[in-house]
Amino acid sequence: MKSVGLLGAAILLLPTVAGAQQAAQISEATETCLGCHELLHPGIVAGWRGSRHAQYTPVEGRAREPLTRRVSSDTIPEAWTGVVVGCAECHTLRADRHADSFDHNGAAVHLVVSPADCATCHATEARQFTGNLMAHAHSNLVDNALYQDLAQQLVGPPVWKDGELTFSPPTDAAQAQACLYCHGTRLSVTGVEQRETDLGEMRFPVIDGWPNQGTGRVNLDGSLGCCSACHTRHGFAIEVARQPYTCKQCHVGPDVPVFKVYSASKHGNIFSSQKHAWDFTAVPWAVGEDFEAPTCAACHVSLLVDPGGAVVSERTHQMNDRLAKRIFGLIYSHAHPQRPETHRIRNRDGLSLPAALDGTPAAEFLITEQEQRERRARMQRICLTCHDAGWVDGHFARYEAAHEETNAATRTCTQILQGIWSDGYATGPGAGGSPFDEAVEQIWMDVWLFHANSIRFAAAMAGGGDYAVFANGVYELAASAKELRDWYALRRRLGAVLPRE
Ligand code: HEC
Ligand code: HEC
Ligand code: HEC
Ligand code: HEC
Ligand code: HEC
Ligand code: HEC
Ligand code: HEC
Ligand code: HEC
Repeated sequence: MKSVGLLGAAILLLPTVAGAQQAAQISEATETCLGCHELLHPGIVAGWRGSRHAQYTPVEGRAREPLTRRVSSDTIPEAWTGVVVGCAECHTLRADRHADSFDHNGAAVHLVVSPADCATCHATEARQFTGNLMAHAHSNLVDNALYQDLAQQLVGPPVWKDGELTFSPPTDAAQAQACLYCHGTRLSVTGVEQRETDLGEMRFPVIDGWPNQGTGRVNLDGSLGCCSACHTRHGFAIEVARQPYTCKQCHVGPDVPVFKVYSASKHGNIFSSQKHAWDFTAVPWAVGEDFEAPTCAACHVSLLVDPGGAVVSERTHQMNDRLAKRIFGLIYSHAHPQRPETHRIRNRDGLSLPAALDGTPAAEFLITEQEQRERRARMQRICLTCHDAGWVDGHFARYEAAHEETNAATRTCTQILQGIWSDGYATGPGAGGSPFDEAVEQIWMDVWLFHANSIRFAAAMAGGGDYAVFANGVYELAASAKELRDWYALRRRLGAVLPRE
């Protein structure tokens, strides 16, 4: 083995390394951890023993040919060339960068292994993930005053005092249980505690915001995100990440009914009845050979090849490089944002929203038409491995129409609400009020947050049927529009006979 001392750092340049021939073994440091944790946490240890981390060294991983390579970093710390990736390799990595590092039976251990730790061996995935909205899901919510207002009106406890209903600021616990469950908490070390364990007294850091696996978690080394949102520990199995249930955890509500749409779609039907015969561990994933209908991963993440081995799509942890449009209405759907930090977007009125209330997009923050075409083509290459061009074109034409129609409906309902605001029957942002704190405003929210979204998600992911019609679809959108109209009409008639407050 040849170490490259000239670089000054204890790093090996992998192409020159012959370590791949060495027998994989467990490091001494990890043997020490296992000595106690095998008894304490048989579940954790069994998960790890069954994982690829327990079987292959980083050097073996790096030496594989590109399409089957899981270790994407070009350089790997020298200490591990002959050892598999054990407890100590992950939980003592970059110890000085983690606020939760603590002296644990002679090693500087940290609990929260972060994406920046994983990047030691999986640099490409970690870098790509920083370009994904998911990595910024915490700050996209918490650093946007409008969304914080929304969260407060929904999560803050309602208080009835002197004939007024107000919503108090939500507690940390309530936020961690609500929005930040999916969007991610901000972790911080608040002290040290002495714990009575099965093996005597030990000291551990106290971590505020823990546990949490939201995709935009702010970690104790300052990094953003949580790889275990999809790669559940300690198996970190690709098989889990490729199943739609993994995404269901967060993409299932009436605001984002993706899993429901998928389950009801033909793709989901075929997955449900045939998945036992598919190979969820093959890398790369061969369309037609390993599976016959797409899961979420196949359309959004996976490295796909045809049975001849030709690449159909590169693996992407950025995931939006296959997305032309943003479906989720804020309050309108729009071209995808250029940058994943949506809290930096400003619309024409200076609000942190990708469109103005009349639908005019904040175009300078959104991708161009050319970029949209490239991303759409990347997605369509996947469809075309199983469908004819006419089928795919027809599908996307209807999907584009769904954007236009739902945005027009949102505009109509917003015009009614603006009338209500300007006549003073509710207090809108123009008069210094919250757009989310009155019952009539919640009817308006249903229109874009539930109904318009549901129709677009159904159109995008081929699950037309109920989620576009009776289950939060056009039926309920029409009902909400009529309710807004009637509410306004009634107030106007009452306004003529009753004195204003
Ligand atoms: C002498 C026994 C012993 C050894 C050796 C040991 N641990 Fe632990 N470890 C414990 C005990 C006991 C706990 C607490 C379990 C509990 O409270 O449920 C613990 C907890 C932990 C935690 C959770 C910390 C927290 O804040 O909750 C991590 C992570 C951990 N150990 C990792 C390691 C790693 C990595 C190694 C090897 C470098 C290691 N341990 C070696 C006994 C040990
Ligand atoms: C590939 C890196 C990796 C390896 C190897 C690894 N861990 Fe972890 N461990 C993690 C991550 C990531 C988390 C959870 C952090 C999160 O939620 O994002 C974690 C969490 C834990 C926890 C807290 C779990 C809980 O539910 O309270 C303990 C304890 C722990 N690990 C011990 C171990 C032990 C013991 C081993 C060896 C058998 C080990 N880890 C191997 C990455 C690793
Ligand atoms: C010290 C290097 C190292 C670190 C740190 C590391 N891994 Fe790995 N990882 C590996 C190796 C080696 C393999 C197996 C490579 C192979 O089989 O070719 C692997 C494989 C994987 C796989 C593929 C599993 C499968 O079933 O195909 C995933 C997913 C993964 N790692 C995620 C993570 C995550 C998430 C973290 C951080 C919590 C992490 N790894 C930290 C080296 C590392
Ligand atoms: C069950 C998981 C989950 C919970 C809980 C959750 N969200 Fe989300 N949120 C999502 C998902 C998934 C998306 C992305 C939707 C998409 O792009 O299709 C999202 C996106 C958003 C966005 C868009 C952010 C942007 O600018 O990119 C806002 C705003 C938002 N959520 C607000 C909230 C608020 C407020 C709460 C709490 C009242 C909340 N969410 C609770 C899963 C969740
Ligand atoms: C722990 C919750 C969680 C899990 C699990 C999860 N997501 Fe997400 N996802 C989110 C949130 C939250 C957002 C929106 C963040 C924002 O808008 O700021 C999001 C956004 C996305 C986006 C838009 C990314 C972009 O940059 O435009 C895609 C695509 C996506 N998720 C796909 C998936 C897939 C596929 C899976 C399963 C393999 C999955 N998600 C699992 C919470 C989750
Ligand atoms: C939103 C879900 C999601 C998150 C979060 C996520 N991944 Fe993945 N990851 C996947 C999916 C799905 C695949 C399978 C891709 C494929 O089929 O080619 C995958 C594949 C991988 C692989 C290749 C596995 C193999 O066997 O070839 C590695 C390595 C990996 N991820 C590392 C990471 C790291 C490191 C992070 C955190 C920075 C991370 N992932 C975060 C969904 C996710
Ligand atoms: C047949 C392929 C396919 C499958 C399967 C699929 N999607 Fe999609 N997905 C799409 C298409 C197409 C779009 C819209 C792309 C565009 O606008 O250019 C999309 C959009 C999205 C978005 C972006 C939403 C937004 O607000 O912009 C998310 C998040 C998402 N899908 C998650 C998932 C999840 C989670 C699953 C599994 C439950 C899934 N998808 C299954 C093709 C698929
Ligand atoms: C791995 C193969 C595969 C891929 C990839 C794939 N599909 Fe499909 N799709 C199928 C199969 C099989 C059916 C069921 C056809 C039937 O019912 O006879 C289907 C059905 C459909 C349907 C009919 C849904 C219904 O309920 O009527 C639509 C629309 C569709 N796909 C669109 C797409 C789009 C768009 C993409 C790419 C974003 C895509 N598919 C990618 C295999 C695939």
